[in-house]
Amino acid sequence: MKIVVADTPKEVCTKLADSISAICNQLLQKQEFVTLCLSGGSTPKQLFHLLASEYQNKIDWKKMHIFWGDERCVAGTDERNNAKMARDALLNKLDVPLTQIHKIRTDIHPSQSAKEYQEVLKTYFDRKRKSFDLVLLGLGEDGHTLSIFPDSLPGIDQGNWVNVAYNKNDDLQRITLMPKLVNKSAYIIFLVTGTKKSRIVNEVITHSGGNKFPANLIRPANGELLWYLDLAAAGDLQK
Ligand code: 6PG
Repeated sequence: MKIVVADTPKEVCTKLADSISAICNQLLQKQEFVTLCLSGGSTPKQLFHLLASEYQNKIDWKKMHIFWGDERCVAGTDERNNAKMARDALLNKLDVPLTQIHKIRTDIHPSQSAKEYQEVLKTYFDRKRKSFDLVLLGLGEDGHTLSIFPDSLPGIDQGNWVNVAYNKNDDLQRITLMPKLVNKSAYIIFLVTGTKKSRIVNEVITHSGGNKFPANLIRPANGELLWYLDLAAAGDLQK
């Protein structure tokens, strides 16, 4: 595991954008395309704006295949929709072919959407290409990641790649990737900023919370786990 800390959210996003660019360019020297799984929520917006503005020519976006770690079951035009946020902040400004952007459908029943998304993933990943090249993740104050929430842990079915979830905080059904697929990725990257997250960051990373958080389910089988934090989120980790 590697922890990268920078003073401000902008600086940590710049460090992360540089790392994403370096990883993608290194991978494209030995493979024809790169699979990048985006996180949702608000934290990644600054990273996406930066990638769209200063990394247009640093990454060969025509060779990028884009996925999401989770989606809120709201209309594609709804501001809460993760794919909409990524389209507005990132993808509309880059030349990623539409056929390479795999949003999670929210215009059909969640269980059908989860099934369809899993079928798309199965066309990409198999014994050879086991999972994503890069997965971006966020972290909630309650220790959730993707759309795997603490109260869903007891009965969670970890046998699937994709599950339907429910978030009581926003009363929304969600579609979420599961650790079974994410943990086979080459690079799993948490981007977390802000003082509010410092306690949970510390508990998840140091396992002082007893490994009970959904984020503790994220354990790369063979890949790398990276944490990109600003000073506020890193809190006591620095001491
Ligand atoms: C979502 C995300 C979720 C998010 C965390 C942190 O759809 O909400 O995938 O896991 O990463 O809730 O969200 P913020 O970045 O908004 O704090």
